Amino acid sequence: MSMSATVNVNGRITGERDAVVSVFDHGFLYGEGIYETMRTYHGRPFLYERHMRRLRNSARMIVLEVPFTDADLGSRIRDTMAASDLNGGEAYIRLLVTRGVGELTYDPQATPTPSVIIIVKPQVDPAPDAYARGVRVVIVDVVRNHPDTVNPAIKSNNLLNNALAAQQAIRRGGFEGIMRNYRGELSECTTSNLFIVKHGTALTPPLESGLLPGITREFLFDVGGAIGIDVREQALRDEDLFSADEAFLTSTTREAVPIVKVDDRTIGSGLPGSVTKKLLEGFRRRAHAD
Ligand SMILES: Cc1ncc(COP(=O)(O)O)c(C=O)c1O
Repeated sequence: MSMSATVNVNGRITGERDAVVSVFDHGFLYGEGIYETMRTYHGRPFLYERHMRRLRNSARMIVLEVPFTDADLGSRIRDTMAASDLNGGEAYIRLLVTRGVGELTYDPQATPTPSVIIIVKPQVDPAPDAYARGVRVVIVDVVRNHPDTVNPAIKSNNLLNNALAAQQAIRRGGFEGIMRNYRGELSECTTSNLFIVKHGTALTPPLESGLLPGITREFLFDVGGAIGIDVREQALRDEDLFSADEAFLTSTTREAVPIVKVDDRTIGSGLPGSVTKKLLEGFRRRAHAD
């Protein structure tokens, strides 16, 4: 493993080799934990308040107390960044809160103290070609979790659903894997949200389709409003994607990446679309100005 990560485990900052948690942590035993992935622009975590809002919502949905203020967590992140080897580059920041260490039982009372882990490493952007030429994605047959099982709205460390879908996407050579929900509607990708563009309007599945409310996705509604592009929620099916003028995916670490192929079908012109490009430009302008 060579990733030059710097890690903060419950306030103790080390290199990656010494970053360890107990096997009795319920994050490890049961996948009971939640997380956020953030990145910096000009050295500052972008949309920090929105990420903290989602973190607390995820925690609430698994009945996990987070006994730290946003400012507490922010100063832990800054301490970890200060100890890391970023050489002036931008940071990838993963903040995890798990149930903590306790007896082998699902009873939350066994784990009164959550574990807080922060991983900082250099932000790695997608290759320039991904933006310039667009990417090919695949639709996987792993179904996104039913919202009444493990709700996809929880940004949970319990990532088997995503991992199994991503394995299939990797096997089939896709940049990402699009997952459908139990009704057969498109939901999201394994680590990103999905948008299509039809007649100049950008459309993304509603939360009701069972997906993670991406911060980048949410921010694109603001960007669209500011630059005069209609960005809306709408339930989408395979045929909407196949007949779209453009498509793209969004995530914190990848911003907005044009999709030009789905399996063996070409989307739109087969090149990154103009609405996608305008939204990406608008996004970057705001990210760098923030
Ligand atoms: C399943 C899933 N959907 C969507 C996203 C995109 O969310 P965000 O824009 O907040 O990074 C992620 C983030 O990695 C994700 O894991």
